[in-house]
Amino acid sequence: MGIHISENTALGSFNTFRIAAFAARYAKITEETALVALYAKGVFANPFFVLGGGSNVLLTGNYQGLVVHMAIKGKQHFIEGNYVYVTASGGEIWNDLVWYCINHHFPGLENMALIPGSVGASPVQNIGAYGVELMDVFYSCRAFDTHTGEFVTFTKEACGFSYRDSIFKSKYKGRYIITSVTYKLHLNSQQNTSYGAIQSELDKRLISSPTIRDIAEVVSHIRVEKLPDPGTIGNAGSFFKNPVIHKSSFNTLVEKFPDLVYYPMPEEEYKLAAGWLIEQCGWKGKQVGNVLIWPKQALVITNAGEATGSEIYAISEKIIEDVASKFGISLEREVNIL
Ligand code: EPU
Repeated sequence: MGIHISENTALGSFNTFRIAAFAARYAKITEETALVALYAKGVFANPFFVLGGGSNVLLTGNYQGLVVHMAIKGKQHFIEGNYVYVTASGGEIWNDLVWYCINHHFPGLENMALIPGSVGASPVQNIGAYGVELMDVFYSCRAFDTHTGEFVTFTKEACGFSYRDSIFKSKYKGRYIITSVTYKLHLNSQQNTSYGAIQSELDKRLISSPTIRDIAEVVSHIRVEKLPDPGTIGNAGSFFKNPVIHKSSFNTLVEKFPDLVYYPMPEEEYKLAAGWLIEQCGWKGKQVGNVLIWPKQALVITNAGEATGSEIYAISEKIIEDVASKFGISLEREVNIL
């Protein structure tokens, strides 16, 4: 099959920040053979960027290379004993997959309902929410190697997952294009209601034995209440990662700031709520030009109008500086900067 590359393509509707930037070259991929055709043209020797749902990217200007837009569709599953293997193509919308599983009574994805973005991006940053991470349900993924022109399969171990990270973001950044992901779900797994906000919303609804549908509905409700809808207000979810620090620095910090919000982790590490750190620096609800720090969740930076990517980036720099000078903590961006 041939592949069409268009020039000067508007990306405004392809990124959830709604930044009005252009791609010098753009190709929409609707089947795997299109990647082979692109490889044959030699395009991967030059700068390119893989776009999925556009929900984790900040375009700080026009992109001078090729945008490869992953849009392959398809979902299927097979059951083996107590497990179901669900395979979805890279261009599927993540939340559609969550509801496909709920409608088939396959548990495991419900806590991650309504996370914006695509299936292909889900392993890249090991998405997670409300007590569950992608790595808990990931089985394997199929990816196109832009160095060799071949398709390869990555097992869970090979992906090197950790908090909002994988080899696709580090060692192999920019090399592989994920075309499908297989999730392995235990058909009898227990619902995870460990996250406080889920339990209190279930209590409010007088639900004592929640189904996976109940959990997905409750999680969606919590997200809608707290987070801006990317359909109406440009944003990319959490802009920064929650910083993880070792016990020694944690002890000093908590002594100075007894209200610090944190979650203990294995190996004497502590994850700090970046939203709290940012709020303490006075940024919550603050608007500078077209950039608004979300009033209900300071970890989310929004485009309150016609913001440019560089305007948003500049504010994120200021937030990093303020958090560093008040707490001595250096925040890392979760969003990819392009
Ligand atoms: N907090 C504040 N002020 C704020 C925001 C948060 O004080 O403005 C404190 C509160 O004490 C709150 C705690 O931080 O209880 C945790 O906040 P929240 O439950 O909103 O979770 P988070 O740690 O800020 C993470 C993920 C979200 C995910 C939620 C729920 C990261 C970077 N973010 O946020 O993921 O939805 O947990 O599980 O890990 C995303 O990655 O884009 C994303 C939205």
